[in-house]
Amino acid sequence: MSEPLVLGIETSCDETGVGIVRGQTLLADAVASSVDEHARFGGVVPEVASRAHLEAMVPTIERACETAGIRLDDVDAISVTSGPGLVGALLVGVAAAKSLALGLGKPLYAVNHLAAHVAVDQLEHGPLPEPCLAMLVSGGHSSLLLVEDVTGEIDPLGSTIDDAAGEAFDKVARLLGLPFPGGPHIDRAARSGSSVAIDFPRGLTTRRDLERHRFDFSFSGLKTAVARWVEARERSGEPVPVEDVAASFQEAVCDVLVRKALDAAGDRGVEHLLIGGGVAANSRLRAMAEERAAAKGIRVRVPRPGLCTDNGAMVAALGSEMVSRGRAPSGLDVPADSSLPV
Ligand code: KG4
Ligand code: ZN
Repeated sequence: MSEPLVLGIETSCDETGVGIVRGQTLLADAVASSVDEHARFGGVVPEVASRAHLEAMVPTIERACETAGIRLDDVDAISVTSGPGLVGALLVGVAAAKSLALGLGKPLYAVNHLAAHVAVDQLEHGPLPEPCLAMLVSGGHSSLLLVEDVTGEIDPLGSTIDDAAGEAFDKVARLLGLPFPGGPHIDRAARSGSSVAIDFPRGLTTRRDLERHRFDFSFSGLKTAVARWVEARERSGEPVPVEDVAASFQEAVCDVLVRKALDAAGDRGVEHLLIGGGVAANSRLRAMAEERAAAKGIRVRVPRPGLCTDNGAMVAALGSEMVSRGRAPSGLDVPADSSLPV
């Protein structure tokens, strides 16, 4: 077969994404987000997300086909995120993908959301260096993965034991009176603050913690430390230096993320670190990772911000890779699985 034309559907959280690729060339990446509907709640509301996916699904598929200049029956395969994620949200995408596969008579590839975050990098930087170490940091996950084969052999080395990195950004932004989602606002505020103004804690980095949680993360203690610091400031009647708090908090998160990712890469002897997920858009994280990795001879790959956040292109990219590597398609009875392991 010439390079496969694959349509990928992503609905694991609050973005309805439909991507179309030919081989590893991106033809369309249509995304409809319900983020504004969740903003007043300060976090994603599952029921609201599911309903928004239902409304956005067909128009987003149509928009992607129009952008790619294809008709639906031109596609060679359909791929879809079957987990992990919000089950009601996943169900909408999985049902849509099954209907397309059945109606068009094309194979269905159910893929893992985390693996798709890794695979998307190929659309920008070419073939994936395997093995590589992937750090995925978003509102829903913070994971270190050893990727031997992105279509099926991924070893989870560690993850957060409480809040995800993006969740910490969102909660701290809220404390500072910044809008949801908070990550980009903290990033911006931090540029005019001092990263050494306040010495916030680095979770799971003491010698004892490292014995049990060498590649795990914890951000809830950091969030509480920021809350205490801000409360003490407010009690004293002094203004809260938002930029300094943002910069010092961001430094603490990035320091731990980069430290552990490079430790894992060194431990497993891999030369490439791939960073993905919404938090990978963070300017300090990118700069710190580049700088510290270079000192260790490790090369960093970070997709552009639009490919780091949830989208359909990542699902299409992984689906296309599965077709190319001759993986078996999924049955039409494949379930949506909110806690699907990699
Ligand atoms: O991957 P994503 O779009 O959705 C999830 O799967 O969660 O990630 C969204 C998360 C949010 O928590 C948001 O605050 C964070 O990514 N984020 C950032 C930045 N841009 C988005 N965090 C830090 N710095 C940024 N520039
Ligand atoms: Zn994600």
